[in-house]
Amino acid sequence: MTPPRPGQTSLAQGTFSELNPPYRLLLGPGPCNVDPRVLRAASAPQLGHLDPFLLDTLGAIADQLRQVFQTQDELTLCVSGSGFAGAEAVLCNLLEEGDTLIAGSLGFFSGKIAEIAQRIGAHVILVESEPGQPLDPQQVAAAFARHPEAKLFATAIAETSTGLLQPLEELEQITHAHEALFVVDAVSGLGGIPINIEQMKIDACYAGSQKCLGAFPGLAPVTLNGRAVEVIKRRRKPVQSYYLDLLALQRYWNGDHAYHHTACSNLLFAMHEALRIVLEEGLETRWQRHRLHGQALRAGLQALGLTLLPRPGYELPVLTAVNLPPSVSENQLRQQLLTAYGLEVGGGLGSLKGHLLRIGLMGYNACRKNVETVLAALEQLLPSHGWPVQAGVALSAAATVYSQADQASEHA
Ligand SMILES: Cc1ncc(COP(=O)(O)O)c(C=O)c1O
Repeated sequence: MTPPRPGQTSLAQGTFSELNPPYRLLLGPGPCNVDPRVLRAASAPQLGHLDPFLLDTLGAIADQLRQVFQTQDELTLCVSGSGFAGAEAVLCNLLEEGDTLIAGSLGFFSGKIAEIAQRIGAHVILVESEPGQPLDPQQVAAAFARHPEAKLFATAIAETSTGLLQPLEELEQITHAHEALFVVDAVSGLGGIPINIEQMKIDACYAGSQKCLGAFPGLAPVTLNGRAVEVIKRRRKPVQSYYLDLLALQRYWNGDHAYHHTACSNLLFAMHEALRIVLEEGLETRWQRHRLHGQALRAGLQALGLTLLPRPGYELPVLTAVNLPPSVSENQLRQQLLTAYGLEVGGGLGSLKGHLLRIGLMGYNACRKNVETVLAALEQLLPSHGWPVQAGVALSAAATVYSQADQASEHA
């Protein structure tokens, strides 16, 4: 007989018990735990997707997003879907079959830009970096020199598979010197690291709701400037995706609100509250909070004798990728963290599978308690993997970072 599925009490009677999911501390690459205010916002009474109250809420969210992205761009909204829906939306609206795109791949996630563009039928010129290394601007310049017809260059500011923070300034200058569009994946970064669409001269950007913005998965904020919108308006053929047609979505969000699809009111309520929290905290304060806790976590991990994957100076504050010694089983360690501590962290992707932990401190989860929890758990578990550690060494290294930050703020 087939074993019962989780939550199913009796196959014979076809009855199902109420689900009672375990509490997890989500310190992986996202989703992260949301602020209780966001949970409460999501439990408000449901509304129809054309209800005047919901339509006003869409307008408010678009305004909040403009503040968070730091842009006046009119085409700023959430696509219904996760971060990759935002990626597909931006790319399939800007690219047509036969167009050339230069894709800056830093790893698994920015690597998907090339795959998505290929599926659209674009001609993809791939520029790659080694895991944990930023892109070499000279290689991007060389790709543009070979392909002056390139319509856009796209990469990520925060590569979540390797914990890398990619500097954008030179890449932007090269892209715009060739009059191409500058497109950025900010799925992991928005709300946690400095992103200023207008100052950084980003033409189109997509993000995710479930990471540093501190909402649930299922909404992908996107923003496109006038130049990018002109490119869409001048398309030879309509966008092949009905669902991700950004001008139609803009009409629903910000125009005559014509029906486009059934947006989920409660996800939007949660997003509104998450963005209220971001703006109440203030962007600079929030970036500083993520920087501080990322720094404390890295200090603790290094005190355990572990090394970090990204090149020094390019570490992403919101997600730390730490190399595991050969004696440590990534799979077993993650299982132990989950079962003994209710703590979820990420593992390596692709060629990094089996060798890496990815620890996220994003949004509501970027706090000292969580840094200390994950460090204490690793201190306990690593010796059983043949990696001896001195008790208390990681927490004490993190504490030093916190006390130095306290002293610096007293003297400021
Ligand atoms: C940099 C980056 N881009 C894209 C994605 C895809 O987002 P989602 O899983 O929400 O579709 C992720 C997810 O982790 C990411 O980190």
